[in-house]
Amino acid sequence: MMRNILSSADLSRKNIEELFSICDAVVSGKRKLSLKGNQTIALFFTEPSTRTMVSFVVAASHLGCNAIYIDSRNSQASRGEELADTARILSLYCNFIAVRINDHDKLLAMAEHSKVPVINALTSLEHPTQALADCYTIMRRKGNLSRLKIAFIGDVAQNTANSLMLTAAKLGARISLVGPKACKPNSFYLKESRKYGRIDVHDSIEEGLNGADVVYTDTFVSMGDEAEAKKRRRMFAPYQLNSKAFSYTKKNSIVMHPLPAHRGEEVTKGVIDGPRSVVWEQAKNKMVIEEAILLYLSR
Ligand code: CP
Repeated sequence: MMRNILSSADLSRKNIEELFSICDAVVSGKRKLSLKGNQTIALFFTEPSTRTMVSFVVAASHLGCNAIYIDSRNSQASRGEELADTARILSLYCNFIAVRINDHDKLLAMAEHSKVPVINALTSLEHPTQALADCYTIMRRKGNLSRLKIAFIGDVAQNTANSLMLTAAKLGARISLVGPKACKPNSFYLKESRKYGRIDVHDSIEEGLNGADVVYTDTFVSMGDEAEAKKRRRMFAPYQLNSKAFSYTKKNSIVMHPLPAHRGEEVTKGVIDGPRSVVWEQAKNKMVIEEAILLYLSR
């Protein structure tokens, strides 16, 4: 039985399909789903969040589970308490801990010292709950992922790209990573994903996006990259998802972005606010997958 969700590598295809079938039950609303007893999730975040934080709180409330948001700046972690001790303490009081932290190794250390399931709510390496919500959204829109080409354009080496590539490859999708030559995909996630399916890497937008069923982009300046913001915006600017880039994809392709979006940088307003954008549905499905995760981890 799966205990934590720290990485997309932790999830087998069977785990993902089981989670998606719980998502279907959540979406159908046919029966009341709840967690047994008086359970609580701690959301320990060292970095800002709008969607992940609020959707976890609301997902928990739908299941009758309490949620406590801990901004690390207002905890003793900000005065030097070791994160291992923070994890031990939170797991004495709470039934789940969701952590957003830049350093992935610190997340692993917290999980090691927690007695309750720990969920990765984003690190600099991965965003596994986002990838699950994304793949669930694609499945609802397009059906079985094994028939689909998913193109990721922009910074192909960041956390969302890593988790999306690995999760979607496990579900049989063909992935196309499209970015500048200087931006190499993370070698671990590329190698791991290639065990499950075809992953192509392109610097040509036309070749990479040609015939894509789904086109995905994300910020050019991820968490931790702020010092290099100017350089990164310059490097990725030619890889903006605009109407020309979008025109290479299939006529019925969909546009995805995990948000927050920077209109005029990684994506144009016309594309992200256009009729084939599913970004709001994608954001809503974060709450659906989080309900499914809490139910699944408490089995
Ligand atoms: N997509 C996402 O993780 O959004 P937040 O940073 O607002 O949580």
